[in-house]
Amino acid sequence: MKNKEIEVCINGETIQASVPVRMNLVDFIREKLGLTGSHVGCEQGVCGACTISIDGVAVRGCLMLAVQADGSSITTIEGVSENPVGSALQRAFVEHNALQCGFCTPGMIASSIEYIEQGGLSDRAAIREHLSGNYCRCTGYQSIIDAVASVVDQRAEP
Ligand code: FES
Ligand code: FES
Repeated sequence: MKNKEIEVCINGETIQASVPVRMNLVDFIREKLGLTGSHVGCEQGVCGACTISIDGVAVRGCLMLAVQADGSSITTIEGVSENPVGSALQRAFVEHNALQCGFCTPGMIASSIEYIEQGGLSDRAAIREHLSGNYCRCTGYQSIIDAVASVVDQRAEP
């Protein structure tokens, strides 16, 4: 398979790599960079397990090729604690018991960061809608919504 050189900033570190042109982004992140916190479930854009942040937008890592990420800034679960919203969400997920097996959690956190950074309100229906593309097989949805709403509320405090 043909390779192409790319440069990305991942979790604050700029790297260059030669990647097969048909390799998807989440496989590149997991297999070439060894960052295995981003998970792979359906591999067809449905479950949200592979969701990562690219230039501040939550993206399905299984639907994007690594070469399409050339020049972008990527944050995976391994880097979210550097983001104030990301670290607040990590604490809130623990406090609200919003993870069981944890398989969905990296994707849930990436989508939740996007929700909050876009100015999302502490509105359970709106949070549910925003996270509707992230499946939790352990069905911990109530706690996940509680955790995200709590971070929105904290940030609204004077
Ligand atoms: S693995 Fe990408 S959406 Fe399911
Ligand atoms: S905590 Fe297990 S899939 Fe969500």
